[in-house]
Amino acid sequence: MRGLFITLEGPEGAGKTTNREYLAQQLEAQGFTVQLTREPGGTALAEQIREILLAPHSEPMAVDTELLLMFAARAQHLAQVIIPALEQGKIVICDRFTDATYAYQGGGRGLDCSRIAMLEQFVQGDLRPDLTLLFDLPVADGMARAVARGKLDRFEQEQHDFFEAVRQAYLQRATDDPERFRLISAQHALPEVQKSLDVHLLEIMERARAH
Ligand SMILES: Nc1ncnc2c1ncn2[C@@H]1O[C@H](COP(=O)(O)OP(=O)(O)OP(=O)(O)O)[C@@H](O)[C@H]1O
Ligand SMILES: [Mg+2]
Repeated sequence: MRGLFITLEGPEGAGKTTNREYLAQQLEAQGFTVQLTREPGGTALAEQIREILLAPHSEPMAVDTELLLMFAARAQHLAQVIIPALEQGKIVICDRFTDATYAYQGGGRGLDCSRIAMLEQFVQGDLRPDLTLLFDLPVADGMARAVARGKLDRFEQEQHDFFEAVRQAYLQRATDDPERFRLISAQHALPEVQKSLDVHLLEIMERARAH
């Protein structure tokens, strides 16, 4: 596929959504066509699945249900948005993707990673992100930002240990795949975080031109 697939990852409040706008603006200013999107969601149908996933329910959601809904939304998102955009040569910037499933359902919920890998292969085939920016910060800092932002969703209502496991799972994946991951220290003030993105923007532009 001709485009470039960039994913933004990291725990709650790390600044993925805030910085994706900055990344898109910088790339568009240089003449690149960017498709900004997010997971779970990214299409009308997948956003409905997102609502089921994020809303608190009186009936507890089984871990496998959560996992399958994540991949159901992903299948829809890939078919409707991500693959067509890549085929059109766009830079796709996706706010969370399958690394989040490994971090939250694997690290956080304790699901066996081999089951996630099975679904990853089933839904994505060989498609993987070209580059993943991992926004990392201490759990307490991220939660403080999420709390200040407003009402907490079903995941944000989890306890400290859950988020610590999420963070460690993300960091482990970055260590295991340094070719794909770029680590961003996200606890600093926004201008500083954005400055640290510039080197990655250059890399994205270089790779997009080479495609
Ligand atoms: N570097 C920063 N310093 C201080 N506050 C920040 C910084 N980056 C983002 N914020 C603020 O923290 C809150 C969370 O940021 P944002 O929504 O971008 O995080 P996120 O990674 O998308 O979180 P989630 O995973 O919950 O969607 C927002 O209110 C945002 O304005
Ligand atoms: Mg966000």
